Amino acid sequence: MLWLAPISLEHGKGHLMARTIVGLDIGTSGVRAAEFSLGRHRKPALRKFVTLPLPRDALRRGVVVDQAAVAQSLRALWAKGKFSTKAVVIGIANEGVLVRQMDLDWMPPADFRKALHYQVAEALPVPVNEANLDYHLLDEVEVTDEHDGTVRRVNRILLVAAARDVVDGFVTAAQGAGLRVTRADLLPFALIRTAASVPAEHQQAEAIVHIGADTTSVVVHSDGRPRFVRMIPSIGSNTITKALQDRYDWSWEEAERSKIALGMHSAPVGETPGYEHPAQQVVTEEAHKLVAEIRATLEFFISSASGSETLSKVLLSGAGSWLTGLPEHLADELALPLEWLSPLDAVRVPRRLRIDGDGPAHLSVPAGLCLGVGAA
Ligand SMILES: Nc1ncnc2c1ncn2[C@@H]1O[C@H](COP(=O)(O)OP(=O)(O)OP(=O)(O)O)[C@@H](O)[C@H]1O
Ligand SMILES: [Mg+2]
Repeated sequence: MLWLAPISLEHGKGHLMARTIVGLDIGTSGVRAAEFSLGRHRKPALRKFVTLPLPRDALRRGVVVDQAAVAQSLRALWAKGKFSTKAVVIGIANEGVLVRQMDLDWMPPADFRKALHYQVAEALPVPVNEANLDYHLLDEVEVTDEHDGTVRRVNRILLVAAARDVVDGFVTAAQGAGLRVTRADLLPFALIRTAASVPAEHQQAEAIVHIGADTTSVVVHSDGRPRFVRMIPSIGSNTITKALQDRYDWSWEEAERSKIALGMHSAPVGETPGYEHPAQQVVTEEAHKLVAEIRATLEFFISSASGSETLSKVLLSGAGSWLTGLPEHLADELALPLEWLSPLDAVRVPRRLRIDGDGPAHLSVPAGLCLGVGAA
């Protein structure tokens, strides 16, 4: 059965000891698979890691639209990786997944889980029997009714509801390549696990901003506990490529190359920048829009969080964040320290496996997916 698991940092327990699993990140621009063994050791050990590009338009807004193309790329990926298992964990980030904070009447945990279907049915955009449901308990609190002043005890939860068909698209594509999806997980939760494997210096919340090709995920967690999740479909680095393509009538590849070569212009605010090429203005303007969206998302979290919430820092991830000038601009706009999310503290990488260049960055999602496998 497929399910979206609540986040947990525990893994490698009981019968799950010494298992081999592949974390599979199916992204708009490429597929990445990392095989880990989950042994007695606290950290999973990386065994194999390979990536391959995915044909354009096989995925759109984080949803599989061309199952045959994805299956073919996965077959090629397995041929390249020579993995020792066909069991995979996949990550999902698209608008078919609803993540929402809710207050529901308190019940003992077993009853609460059983009643969840009935309690959340009305809040879902799809019929409840067409959704995979899970939740993460944020807090147990007492709330006072605005109208009659009565106090009731509630479980404050982060509800995760995935429309079955958006999960099924990935599962069918994987099956087409002879793979078995043992678990589908929320991609932002995978990022949190990767980030939280490094002991926090303090309890203050930290944000993770993951800029992909077609989807940007913004997450806030405190010490591994998710606080806020937003996946923004159709907002990613491909937006910049598309704007260049439209403006200059370039091929996709030309627009990609120009975007990467030019990057953003970094003139201080208020000064008129001298662009290296007129296209750099397009890149800069589009990147400003992307950063504005991220900033608005985090401002929304801060304004809606109860109490005085502050963020200690932002961890940046996803190849879209490699655009020259973007990290600096984001740090300025958010007025927060910024660091790169690194998976290398979360997992053990044997010396014989050299992963350099872009490798480690693309390992964050597969690693975080596998870190969740031992979770209940
Ligand atoms: N050096 C670079 N500078 C700027 N942008 C880059 C660079 N390398 C890759 N990108 C951009 O990053 C994006 C791909 O990011 P990533 O690989 O994280 O996305 P994805 O996982 O394939 O897509 P998604 O998760 O959105 O489905 C592309 O738009 C690409 O142009
Ligand atoms: Mg991605």
